[in-house]
Amino acid sequence: MFRTISKHVKNYTVHSVLTPLFMVLEVIFETIIPMCMGWMVDNGINGNSGNGDMNYILKMGGIMIVLVILAFISGILGAVFGSIASCGLAKNLRTDMYKNIQTFSFSNIDKFSTAGLITRLTTDVTNVQNAYQMLLRMAFRAPVSMIFALVMSYTVSFKIANIYLIAVIFLGIGLAVIMLNAKKYFTKVFEKYDDLNETIQENVNAIRVVKAFVREDYESEELKKAAGNIYKMFVKAENVVVWNAPLMQFTMFATMLFISWFGAHLVVSNELETGQLLTLFTYCMNILGNLMMLSFIFVMLTLSAASGKRIAEVLDEESELKNPENPVTEVKDGSVRFENVCFSYKKGSGKNVLNKINLDIKAGETIGIIGGTGSAKSSLVSLINRLYDVNEGSVKVGGVDVKDYDMEALRNQVSVVLQKNVLFSGSIFDNLRWGNPSATDEECVEACKLACADDFISSFPEGYNTKIEQGGTNVSGGQKQRICIARALLKKPKILIFDDSTSAVDTATDAKIRKALKEAIPGTTRFIIAQRISSVQDADRIIVMEEGEVNGFGTHEELLANNAIYKEVFESQTGANADFDESKGGAL
Ligand SMILES: Nc1ncnc2c1ncn2[C@@H]1O[C@H](COP(=O)(O)OP(=O)(O)OP(=O)(O)O)[C@@H](O)[C@H]1O
Ligand SMILES: [Mg+2]
Repeated sequence: MFRTISKHVKNYTVHSVLTPLFMVLEVIFETIIPMCMGWMVDNGINGNSGNGDMNYILKMGGIMIVLVILAFISGILGAVFGSIASCGLAKNLRTDMYKNIQTFSFSNIDKFSTAGLITRLTTDVTNVQNAYQMLLRMAFRAPVSMIFALVMSYTVSFKIANIYLIAVIFLGIGLAVIMLNAKKYFTKVFEKYDDLNETIQENVNAIRVVKAFVREDYESEELKKAAGNIYKMFVKAENVVVWNAPLMQFTMFATMLFISWFGAHLVVSNELETGQLLTLFTYCMNILGNLMMLSFIFVMLTLSAASGKRIAEVLDEESELKNPENPVTEVKDGSVRFENVCFSYKKGSGKNVLNKINLDIKAGETIGIIGGTGSAKSSLVSLINRLYDVNEGSVKVGGVDVKDYDMEALRNQVSVVLQKNVLFSGSIFDNLRWGNPSATDEECVEACKLACADDFISSFPEGYNTKIEQGGTNVSGGQKQRICIARALLKKPKILIFDDSTSAVDTATDAKIRKALKEAIPGTTRFIIAQRISSVQDADRIIVMEEGEVNGFGTHEELLANNAIYKEVFESQTGANADFDESKGGAL
């Protein structure tokens, strides 16, 4: 995990090295200052048989001012480089995670929850950023400063320095106990953050549904619960951490008391000078303060280790779909062949979603696909543009296995209007150009005419420049579907797949779109998944799917004559007793 994260420091390595360097410099200057102070008192004020040596005092004062300035500059430089390095690391982590997420296959995406990914990209990275800054600035500074101060104390007075050592051991053990206890709770806090993000994300996304079902109160309760859990864990953790301060104060005052008592004795017996005692007092604060700082670093690092692990998981996740060594970049034609295809979403776990599928589809054919919900219609077509890889058998497009294609080239030639489609924020033109960034305005309008979208787009006051809101909330379901169809058409693909893409469009418009496509792009192989027989009955051939298997494959007439499921569906949708009651719809 540390290796993965540290690889992303990249162009901020220099800053990362300079930070601790300047921090250590600051410590060196800071540690000499108390010594100078001691010398000033002993040799300057008390020196010269107690009459004071003004020159010495001025000289020492001057040196101390220079040291303070140097410490100040080193501290500032250390802080600046530390900030640059840690913010830079965060930037690199975010962009690299995002880049890797873009390469994820659908099955990689299925593994992480969206809320989880967002927490990883935001909160987790911020944690690592803070920890990294702390690490660069303090992880060296604190121990170096402490050791320096301890060593210096030993040079001043061996006896008193021993008191420090005892204090350090006592406080060290105390802090370790407190922090180890707090760590337990802090780690739990992060798990709860995922829950909170999930609740927020799900509800903000589905706010319309929440309102439609009058679930606001319930959802608010859910959020309260998630937020409450974090609150509880934080309070518990803080309840443990608060013991830090009293423990610190106790040790500090006890040490001071000891030094005062012991030091006074030493001064009286002339074993120690007053100035030296002053120096030792300053070191006392220094040593114990740094120890406290170390305990915070310890907590911070253990906390961020949890975040670091979650980040590394995303960075290390490798796309399950890889481009082959020498990819084919040209899709010859729109023919599709399924040879003994078996497929499941989770490899090696139980039942196959698709079983032993064999299909041979010629370029330019229109293929209807019909079948009940969950019969694996969407799964079947998702293999054609290699959104998922098959477990067994092969899918061939234009006579070549889809695994041998360059994925981008393949997906440019196999255009899908997904069942769950989305529009992005931006104008209608922007959205259409997702299909083809270099499409001209005329081409966009042409595609929209084919998709029967031109009429309603033109009726908008701003026409094609109408802004689509995030998720396409300001257009109707049917309008959205038609914009998505136009977007897919702009790719000018060899294979076009409509996954239930006209379900929200009225039957007449649906027929109009099909007719327009037949005339405008006769050479393109079309797959039309639909729930309505009317949407597929004029297709060249129709696949009837049932429970992941091909139950029938033929023309409308052939299927009506010899496929029970198709016949039943047809009768329930036409005939005298036609209705769209799902339970009567048999397989549908
Ligand atoms: N991403 C996924 N991860 C795991 N299982 C999935 C996933 N998508 C679909 N499934 C499962 O695969 C099976 C087939 O689903 P699929 O979406 O292909 O059906 P469908 O025929 O398109 O249904 P519908 O008509 O409702 O769109 C279902 O049992 C479903 O639970
Ligand atoms: Mg589907």
